[in-house]
Amino acid sequence: MRAKAMANANIALIKYWGKRDDKLILPQNSNIAVNLAGLTAKTSVTFDKKYKKDSFLLDGKTQSGEELARVVDTLNRIRKLARIKDKALVMSANNFPTAAGLASSAAGGSALVLAASKAAGLDLSNRELSILARMNSGSSCRSIDGGFVKWVKGVRKDGKDSYGKQLFNEFYWPDFRIIVTILSTAPKKIKSRAGMKTSVENSPFYRTWSDESERSCADMERAIKNKDIAVLGSLAEKNAIMMHCVMFATTPSIIYWSPETVEVINAVHEMREKGIRCYFTMDAGPQVKIICLKNDVKKIKNLVLKIKGVKNIIVCRPGTGAKLIA
Ligand code: PMV
Repeated sequence: MRAKAMANANIALIKYWGKRDDKLILPQNSNIAVNLAGLTAKTSVTFDKKYKKDSFLLDGKTQSGEELARVVDTLNRIRKLARIKDKALVMSANNFPTAAGLASSAAGGSALVLAASKAAGLDLSNRELSILARMNSGSSCRSIDGGFVKWVKGVRKDGKDSYGKQLFNEFYWPDFRIIVTILSTAPKKIKSRAGMKTSVENSPFYRTWSDESERSCADMERAIKNKDIAVLGSLAEKNAIMMHCVMFATTPSIIYWSPETVEVINAVHEMREKGIRCYFTMDAGPQVKIICLKNDVKKIKNLVLKIKGVKNIIVCRPGTGAKLIA
C-alpha cells in the first residue's frame, strides 16, 4: 500500500486571503492561479500495519506539531473513505525553499492527497482530490488540475462545491512566464493561516478587497482566454497590492515586504516604462514574482539579476497538475 505523487506549486493571479469557514477551509472569495512547472513537491505515502503512528518527513526532517497534525488530518479523511485503519509513513521533498512564500504548502498538499488516496486503494476524481487538498491547505486545491485553475468559492455549507477547476490547461498559453525572484529563503514569521484569520477579523479594508477579488475573477478569466498579458498583468498586480494593503492594515500589522521587495517592484515599473510588458505579484513572503512573456525573459532576467538583494531567480512556464510517479 504505497504510492508516490508529484505536484507543482501554484501562484495566484487573483488571491485567496481569508476563510469563511476555518475548519473546512472555505474561502471568502473565488480566486485564480497558474501552476508553475519546476516548483515541485514529491510525496510518497506508505500505509502499513507495522506502523504504530503516522509520521511525516519533510526534506528529510521529522515533522511534529501543526505540520504533522495537518498531514494526520488528511490521512484520517482518506482512511475513513477507504475504510482502512493502518498508520502511514509520509515522505515529502520540495525542490524549492519551504514556507518562504513560494506556495510550498500547495504543492505538498496536493501531492499528499493524490499519493495517500492511491496508496489507500481509492480512485478519486480530480474534484474529490481537490476538495481533500483544500482541507489540507487552501491553495493546494489549485494544484490538482494543471495550467490555469479557478478555486470556485462555492455556496454550500459542507464545502462540496468549493474546489479547484481547470480554466485552461498548461499548453494553452505556452509563452506565458512567471519569473520568481528569490530574495530570502528564511521561513516566514507569520504563517498564512494565522495572518489571514486576523485580517478577516479586523482589517478595515477586508470586505472591499474580497468583493473586488470576486468581481475580478471574470476579468481575469477573460484575460487568460484572450492571452492578453497587459490586462492579466495589471489585474494581478492590482489584486496583489490590494491584498498587501489588507495585510498592512491588519492589527497587529502583517508585513512580508523586505527592502529588496521594493527594489524589485521599482525595477518592474521602470522596465514597464521602457516598454517591457512585465507585472508583479506577491504572496505571504518577500519574493516578487514577475509576470511576462517568453520573449522578454532574457531582458528582464539581466536587469533583475543586477539588483543586489536578488539571490536567485527561477523562470517557470505553466505547469501540469498532480501526477502519480514511480
Ligand atoms: O493556502 P495557504 O494557507 O498557504 O494560503 C495561501 C495564501 C496566499 O499565497 C497569500 C494567496 C494565494 O491565493 O495563494
